[in-house]
Amino acid sequence: MSKKNTIMMEAQEIALRINGKDLVVNVKPSLLLIDLIRDELLLKGTKPGCLEGECGACTVLVDGNAVNSCMFLAVNAHGKEIVTIEGLSTVDEPLDPVQKALVAHGAVQCGFCSPGMAMSIKAFKAECDAMNTVPTSGEIKKAIEGNLCRCTGYVKIVEAVESLFEESEE
Ligand code: FES
Ligand code: FES
Repeated sequence: MSKKNTIMMEAQEIALRINGKDLVVNVKPSLLLIDLIRDELLLKGTKPGCLEGECGACTVLVDGNAVNSCMFLAVNAHGKEIVTIEGLSTVDEPLDPVQKALVAHGAVQCGFCSPGMAMSIKAFKAECDAMNTVPTSGEIKKAIEGNLCRCTGYVKIVEAVESLFEESEE
């Protein structure tokens, strides 16, 4: 096999939308989504923790679903909409309601888990809103069980999530 053919097999063109922008990029089949996001697109808010699918620090939204980007191949993002923590900010609203709630409830300490936590909460809130349900604290805990936090003890995080539903009930 010629070198040219080898290179063609290694890289694959994918088209995706990330934080509202359409992109076409060439990725190796083995490239992980977290590495595309952090190393090639330079979106450093998505954190590398365990890199084994255990901690949730790398969570992003893929078509609205919370996904561990360390366990997701970039080629599988073809045709999908990706949102990272940076995508929650706008010029007018630098902090999303989820981020505001986490800050307001003292649910951010070292902050390492916070981007992934925020993305999981974002997906969960959208899911609850779509079903028009207000979750119990048990359901909230279940929703964030894939996101490990070494600092907060989770109580403040759960309170922050509960506040999102109190506000939406007003
Ligand atoms: S870094 Fe992906 S789950 Fe821990
Ligand atoms: S705030 Fe430090 S790990 Fe969660």
